[in-house]
Formats: sequence, structure tokens, C-alpha cells
Amino acid sequence: MEMKDKIKELESRNLQAELGGGEKRIEQQHAKGKMTARERIDYLLDEGSFQEVDKFVVHRCQDFGMEKKKIPGDGVVTGYGTINGRQVFLFAQDFTVFGGSLSGAFGEKVCKVMDLALKNGAPMIGLNDSGGARIQEGVMSLAGYGDIFRRNVLSSGVIPQISVIMGPCAGGAVYSPALTDVTIMVKKTSNMFITGPQVIKAVTSEEVTAEDLGGAMAHNTKSGVAHFAEDSDQAALDRVKEILSYLPQNYRETTPSVECTDDPGRKDKSLNKVVPTNPRLPYDMTEIIRTILDNNLFIEVHKHFAKNMVVGFGRLNGYSVGIIANQPRFLAGCLDTKASVKCARFVRLCDAFNVPLITFVDVPGYLPGVQQEYDGIIKHGAKIIFAYSEATVPKLTVVTRKAYGGAYIAMSAKHLGADINYAYPTAEIAVMGPEGAANIIFKKELSEADDPDATKERLVEEYRNNFASPFKAAELGYTDHIIFPENTRPRLIKALMMLKNKKESIPERRHGNIPL
Ligand code: HXC
Repeated sequence: MEMKDKIKELESRNLQAELGGGEKRIEQQHAKGKMTARERIDYLLDEGSFQEVDKFVVHRCQDFGMEKKKIPGDGVVTGYGTINGRQVFLFAQDFTVFGGSLSGAFGEKVCKVMDLALKNGAPMIGLNDSGGARIQEGVMSLAGYGDIFRRNVLSSGVIPQISVIMGPCAGGAVYSPALTDVTIMVKKTSNMFITGPQVIKAVTSEEVTAEDLGGAMAHNTKSGVAHFAEDSDQAALDRVKEILSYLPQNYRETTPSVECTDDPGRKDKSLNKVVPTNPRLPYDMTEIIRTILDNNLFIEVHKHFAKNMVVGFGRLNGYSVGIIANQPRFLAGCLDTKASVKCARFVRLCDAFNVPLITFVDVPGYLPGVQQEYDGIIKHGAKIIFAYSEATVPKLTVVTRKAYGGAYIAMSAKHLGADINYAYPTAEIAVMGPEGAANIIFKKELSEADDPDATKERLVEEYRNNFASPFKAAELGYTDHIIFPENTRPRLIKALMMLKNKKESIPERRHGNIPL
């Protein structure tokens, strides 16, 4: 064959692969408001950086007439490139080719880039838009999923793994995203479920739409499976870039930093007024968080789920930090089962990737209730204690108001290994809330009082002043200092810089056994 013919063949095969399922199916994809796999990659990666792998791979199925239907690439585009100059590996499922369904060959393509990502210590990004296992391939397809799941697990804590759900993701296919660090869903066009509405109707007679069952908001508000819900493909891909900017390439690298354009010594008098003097009044903890972070920029993760707990990324003096905080605006900031899982998982994500933890505490306790106990608040609440105790990244804690009982300990108290613990003058650190404590320790006095209401008020106040102040903890060294709220940012930055070279190891073992 002449050189020019070889070039012609290459061009024709390239074109065929790039057209995927063909123009009509591309139009259908666009009509649904979705980008194609290649458009998504182009949007996500730095211009011209994408290097495709396995562009000409085809499936090996000989059944159901599939031997006559072969499309180069076989429904997934895989390769590597850069985002803001940093190496990443990725796959993008192509719904225009056999509904993006996963064949044996497709699975091998995905595994190849996952292996490259792990060996090279760079993030792995999965763009999901698929009808699931390629039905014609049967168990070969299941094997592909199994191989991917195992790689997800072995990569966990080594490299960041991010999943974006941009179309259907059903059946066992949902477990690859579930095994990754962050899941982002696109509103209206994506869904995730183990069994779809039709199967559910047949089995349980429940009627539900795909959107209500497994749409972006269902998983962001109810199940907590997804961490972000975005309005469009573009917004979801922007989110990937943003999250990666807070994470290192792998666990060996230190926390990424950018040039700080905000004064590290900046004090803010507005902070002195955020926490109300009346301990029953709610306030918005994110106001404090935003005020102290560089350029007031806070990226809230899992925003719609367990709103009594706030987690997310920000920067202090240019360094990435993970923020964990109780939110007094919801359930008074109590720890319930969902908030516990949300908190523990985020602590572990940060610890895995060298992101220091900054914890803001205003917690009246674990949420009381029969259902909470039946739902396992004991084991879920223990997750927070486990996660903080095993975390070896720098840990800074600020108690803004209430810190009672077990919840005081759980929220990164000194005893779980926090490096620096601050408290505002408004802090109430005690074994339990003043009302409950007064009811117990002054029971006799209250039962004999002529005016029980006034007596109780006096005794509660007495308890609050004597025991529920931050000074007891400061006298014992459990709190390192009582700080004025306006000084929070400079104090935290100084502590963070002091801890820059922190090295701590945990006992040698195969692995801990977090209460699951
Ligand atoms: C083979 C598939 C397919 C699949 C879709 N297609 N899913 N081909 N295997 N799993 C094909 C269709 O036949 C069709 O081809 C094309 O993709 C587009 O699909 P449509 O149905 O026309 O698209 P739409 O109406 O948008 O519906 C999308 C869909 C639906 C909701 C995803 O296709 C669907 O329900 N698919 C089956 C989902 C499923 O049950 N998958 C298996 C789950 S079990 P043509 O040529 O006709 O256009 C599983 C196990 C994993 O995944 C286990 C891991 C451990």
C-alpha cells in the first residue's frame, strides 16, 4: 500500500472513531442538552492537551448480530491530558455508541487508563453516560465492571478519583462512582439507581419517576450519594477543575498552594458580632468560614445533604484547607447519623490527600431520638471520632459557642489529637447543656423551690457562668487559647504555618476497622 493510501486509511478510521454513533445520534445527544463524550473532554482539558489511547479498539462479541456492528473506540473515549497544566487521566462514556454500554473491550480500555493514572500518581476522572452492562456480552461485561471496581478501590487514597454523572448510570454500574472520592451529577439529564422505576414498581408497587428516584437532587439531598448537583455539563466539568485545584496529584505530594492575594494578617471586626449572645439564637456558620478564608472563597461540598454539618474547601495563606463545621441554622447544629457520615468521610478525604483540617464547633450534642438510635447513631457518630483520631494532617479547632459532651470530643477536641484548639469568649464547653445539667444536679433544690421557674433560670445561669465557659478547658490546657473572633484568620494562619512540617505516624497495622 502506498504511503498516501495509508494516510487515507488512518484519516478515515480517525473520522469514523470521532463520529462515534454517527451524526443522527450526536444530534439526539445535543437535543437532550448533553455534550458528546469528545466535546466533554475538549471542554475539560487544556486546549490541545488530550492524547487518546485505544481509539481503534472494537468489541469481540459474536452474538446477536454484533459481529457486523463494530464502531472504533467501542463506546468509550479514553486517554490523558492536562487541566491547568497538571496531568490527569480520564474516560468519557459515549452514549451514541451502543448507548455507552460496557463491553469486555470497553472495560479493558478503562482499566488501561486507570492503571496509568495509578502508576503515574495523577488524578483519574470518569465521565459517565451509559446504559450499563452491554447486554449482548453477558458475563464479559460484568468482568469489566469488576476489574474497574477493584482498581477504584486500589487507587483510593493514592490518587484523587472524581466521577461525573452526565446521563444514565444504572445497576451495578453505579458502584464505580460510589467508590470514588467525589461524585458530581448534572441536573435533569443524569440519574443513578440500582434498580429503575419499572423494576421497583413490579417488586414493591411503588411508583416513582427516574428523576425523583435517582436524579441529581435526589442523590444530593436524600441519599448523599452525590456531592454536587450542577445545571449543565459545562458547569459539572468546571466543578471538576475547581475541586482538583484544592487537591494534590497523589497522597505523596504536599497540599497544593497558590499565591495568596489576601492579607494573612487580616482581622475582621464583623466576626465579633456573628455569634449571638443568646445561646438559643441560630446564626450562619458559613459567614464565619467565608470571612476567614482567603478572598472569602469557600467551596461547599455536599451542600444539600445533612445541612446541620458544613464541609468544604478553601485556602488560608494560599494553602488548601478542609473546613468542617456544625451549622446552628439546621437542627441547632446537632450531630445526627447523616451529618456524622458526611463529616467522617470528608475528614478522611482531606487526610488522605494532605489537606489540613480546620474545624468550627457549635454543637449541642448528638441528636436525641428513638429513630436516631435505631438508625445507628452510635456507630455513625463513632465514625467522626475514628476519622479525626486517625487523621495525621494538621488539625486546628475553633469552638465558637456550644461544645457539649461526646460531641465536644468528636468535633476535633484536643484529646483526638488536634494540634491547636481555640475558643471564642462565647464558647460553652461542658459535659452537657446548662438546662439539662441544672435539672440533674439541682433536682432537689428545684423540687423544693417556691418559684421553680425563677429558681431554674438562676441555677442555669449559675451553671453557665461557672462551668459552661471556655476558661475551665483553657485552665486545663485542653483549649490552647481564648481568642477574639476578629483574630481568627491570622491565628489560624500562624498555627497552620507552624504545622507545615508536621509528621505524625499511627501504630503499624494492616488497617483500622472504622465502624461501617
Ligand atoms: C446494550 C444498550 C444498552 C445496554 C442501551 N443500549 N443500553 N445496548 N446494552 N445495556 C442501546 C439501545 O439498544 C439503543 O440502541 C441505544 O443504546 C440507545 O438506547 P435507547 O434505549 O434508545 O436510549 P434511551 O431511550 O435514552 O434510554 C436509555 C436507557 C435505556 C434508559 C439507558 O437504554 C435502558 O434502559 N437501557 C438498559 C439499561 C439496563 O438495564 N442496563 C443493564 C443494567 S445491569 P439502538 O441501536 O436501538 O439505538 C448492569 C449490570 C452492571 O448494568 C453490573 C456491574 C457489576
